Amino acid sequence: MPTVLITGANRGLGLEFTRQYAADGWQVLACCRQPESADALDAIARSSNKVRVLALDVADLDAIDTLAKTLRDTAIDLIINNAGIYPDHHGGLGAIDYDAWMLAFRVNTMAPLKVAEAFTPHLERGAGKLIATVSSKMGSLDDNTSGGCYLYRSSKTAVNMVMKSLSLDLAARGIRAVILHPGWVQTDMGGANALINAEQSVSGMRRVLARVTEAQSGHFISYDGKEIPW
Ligand SMILES: NC(=O)c1ccc[n+]([C@@H]2O[C@H](COP(=O)([O-])OP(=O)(O)OC[C@H]3O[C@@H](n4cnc5c(N)ncnc54)[C@H](OP(=O)(O)O)[C@@H]3O)[C@@H](O)[C@H]2O)c1
Repeated sequence: MPTVLITGANRGLGLEFTRQYAADGWQVLACCRQPESADALDAIARSSNKVRVLALDVADLDAIDTLAKTLRDTAIDLIINNAGIYPDHHGGLGAIDYDAWMLAFRVNTMAPLKVAEAFTPHLERGAGKLIATVSSKMGSLDDNTSGGCYLYRSSKTAVNMVMKSLSLDLAARGIRAVILHPGWVQTDMGGANALINAEQSVSGMRRVLARVTEAQSGHFISYDGKEIPW
């Protein structure tokens, strides 16, 4: 069965990705910051021999290299850059938290590329050859009609550009890179008023990932299969 590596796998969309891929028989490399307190993830891992829980804080770029070395003999079919932060809860225009913005760039923008760099050899060994980055429609210039959310929006716009370049640079090696919008989802980040639940979002994104063509590499695709304008 194929192998998927997922970041931020302990709650929200990452946990649901883990649940669904494990239920389908995939081997899941479920990465999270604090395995010792990842109770929901641990429960899935204990009820399935498919899930391996691994410690990874994606803000620690050296730790990404270290994990890649630990897994050097493992072929990976699919990588899901899911871990993300929403840093705009406090302080809008006039009170921008620049340190929080730098951390958002580290987690939301730089870490996905670092994961791709570190794990390209593992993807080359796998058959699936696909990197998916969970971005957000809030990073779409076209969709921005309400302003604000400078930190989150810009970190997602930037990761979209990063992944577009990556898709072109990895094409010759047969690796595709896609950018996903999960919808507005009921998670800690999306809140209780969001429009869909994690099961619906992840089922949709998995359907998209199962059908991604070479021509779609570098595209920005919603959980329902629709292309998102940049
Ligand atoms: N929910 C939505 O409506 C929505 C909409 C558009 C896009 N998204 C995107 O979807 C992705 C998943 O979001 P979610 O809704 O599942 O959010 P969530 O419930 O807040 O979960 C975020 C996940 O990211 C992890 N994370 C944060 N910083 C990390 C770090 N430095 N290293 C490793 N893991 C880290 C968290 O781990 P800890 O538990 O350790 O904090 C948690 O597992 C994010 O990229 C988000 O931007 C969500």
